[in-house]
Amino acid sequence: MSDMKFTHLFTPLQIGPMRVPNRICETTNTINSSMTPGMIDEHFIAHHVAKARGGTGWIGSETWLLDVPFPPETADEVGLSIGCASHGAAYQYPAFAEGMKKFVTAVHEAGSVAVVQLTQLTSAWGPSAVPMIGAQSYTPHVLGEEEIEYCIDVYAAAARVAQSVGADGIEIHCAHETMGHAFLSPVSNRRTDRWGGGPSERIRFVVEVLKRVRGRIGESLALGMRISAQEFRQGGYDHMEMREMLYGIAQHGLLDFVDIDTGHCWGAPSYVPNSYYPHAQYREAGKAAKADLSGLPRKVAVMFTGRINDPVLAENLIEEGYCDLVGMVRAGIADPEFANKAREGRLGEIRRCIACTRCIDEASESLYVPYTPMCSINPVIGSELRWEQQYRPAQKPKRVVVVGGGLAGCEAARIAAQRGHRVTLLEQGKRLGGQLLIAAKAPGRDSFEDQIYFEENEMTRLGVEVRLQNRADAASIKALSPEAIVIATGARPRVPHDVSGLELAHVAYGWDVMQGAAACGQRVALVSQEDYYETVSVADYLASQGREVVVFHKSAQLGREIARYSQGMALARMEELGVQTVGNVILTQIDAGGLQFVSVFGGRPVRHEGFDSVVLVYGAVAQNELYDQFKAEGFTPLYLAGAAWLPRRMAEATRHGANIGLVI
Ligand SMILES: Cc1cc2nc3c(=O)[nH]c(=O)nc-3n(C[C@H](O)[C@H](O)[C@H](O)COP(=O)(O)O)c2cc1C
Ligand code: SF4
Repeated sequence: MSDMKFTHLFTPLQIGPMRVPNRICETTNTINSSMTPGMIDEHFIAHHVAKARGGTGWIGSETWLLDVPFPPETADEVGLSIGCASHGAAYQYPAFAEGMKKFVTAVHEAGSVAVVQLTQLTSAWGPSAVPMIGAQSYTPHVLGEEEIEYCIDVYAAAARVAQSVGADGIEIHCAHETMGHAFLSPVSNRRTDRWGGGPSERIRFVVEVLKRVRGRIGESLALGMRISAQEFRQGGYDHMEMREMLYGIAQHGLLDFVDIDTGHCWGAPSYVPNSYYPHAQYREAGKAAKADLSGLPRKVAVMFTGRINDPVLAENLIEEGYCDLVGMVRAGIADPEFANKAREGRLGEIRRCIACTRCIDEASESLYVPYTPMCSINPVIGSELRWEQQYRPAQKPKRVVVVGGGLAGCEAARIAAQRGHRVTLLEQGKRLGGQLLIAAKAPGRDSFEDQIYFEENEMTRLGVEVRLQNRADAASIKALSPEAIVIATGARPRVPHDVSGLELAHVAYGWDVMQGAAACGQRVALVSQEDYYETVSVADYLASQGREVVVFHKSAQLGREIARYSQGMALARMEELGVQTVGNVILTQIDAGGLQFVSVFGGRPVRHEGFDSVVLVYGAVAQNELYDQFKAEGFTPLYLAGAAWLPRRMAEATRHGANIGLVI
């Protein structure tokens, strides 16, 4: 039990007409939870209201995408990949407003406030013929006067709907390559008419939107905006220019709050920063805004957002004057109950976001159909209703043996124990964590250990008997007289079957290198058939130690399976460390002098020489021998969990293990 008081974090704040019960804010968190596009359904409500019940005072929920002035004869919609634009918009439909009303009521019943974000998210339309998203080549249609007028009016129309459903506040989205941002940015706003020019001209669009919205809703709702503290792009505005623009906007006396964050949706840093970036890295932007805006007649509350995953840090940020409110989105995805746990002194029970970015990557480029929100460490997210229906204390507590203390094994043990089973967890290593222990060794990934601490604490709290350095076999498992067995023995590195020379002394596997079980020379050829973070992490590990690393890769680009929102951060890191890449090659032979490849397309032989070590990253193969043994003996109930069934990513292991814990 902690006796930390959180006196600042849990102090209410009056923002215009809106009284926020505490300073913890779910800034907008679009997760397409509504399943049916544009419909607010029970899944959406369950997801966001879980955070409200968990103590988050401000619920930002899902952004409202607004309509743009399509010519009537064009196709109806364009998708997220080029910026989401539509003839119509959800807010125009009565069913959406009905759903929203139910949602807002539920948020209010939980004691929180509901704030609606209004967004023209489009790179199909823009102030100038300059691509808004640097990773795309789509050049926008340049808005004419009438079209600008249309865009401004749409914000006001949507604001009126937000008011009618009982929302407490409205945020105009002017960050993250949205229309507001496009007008503020000197890169994308190159107009020479009244909408473009210096900072005081480029703010005109935002000011007109705020005026129009105020004109429609009056003083009945709090009104604010989201803005990026600086643009990390060639020719973009810097922090000083942002301050000038923000002051210029606030001077009009229309704003009640400003929500400041940093980064964009395609580069480095992303506005959903990963673990390479320090917690609250750009916090000074909040402090500067507080100072700049403090003298204005209308009080403007300042929110700062960006990798704040811990209530202690949040409390300090407010206490030390960096902001009045803290944006904490992923903190609530990883643990919707974190605020209540903090208030009740249960800090050790908080599951802290490890900044892996799976949630935003899944929201932007989903692996699953239909899309459900996902978190690497919270198994319940996206299935809140199913968990509510299925979670029951065990009718007859059983002796459960879980073999393997990786994420899947820990989650199976945790949920089974929580439901009342007597659980023994056998782990062959010195510590719980499995593959997480390896991943956490990569530079910038130490936060992954937070999840290991969480599981260790939970095992103690829930009375799971953890036996470390215990290599289980069938006999030792049977000696425990189990009534249910979970095999979560993980995976081992895949050894390619079609490469000669693997037995040579200078050849090693990525996992062994990361665990210190294999040494490497100065010049390393990292040969990869893996497209997510493993290759990047091994390259990072080696290059950070001063080695020269060349990645020979089967795909055209490293990290091809990392979504656009996050890929830039991984690639920037590779560039910073001088990691070279050779794409589209497949290894056939290693010999003392070099490596023989064939090109993926065409089969042309390619040879590379001059390396001291060869490190292979070829993915993983399930380790399920124990399962096969018990299966052959007909033991039931028997479960195969996580990578021992199918090596995938963290979220899949977490979910699989927890779901087994739910049904034992
Ligand atoms: C799944 C997901 C969806 C998001 N959707 C939006 C959005 O629609 N609008 C927006 O302004 N920010 C969005 N964000 C960004 C968050 O509001 C927040 O700025 C970001 O996650 C960084 O804060 P955190 O470190 O507390 O998570 C989203 C973030 C996530 C993880
Ligand atoms: S998926 Fe990763 S980044 Fe997102 S909330 Fe969960 S732990 Fe945090």
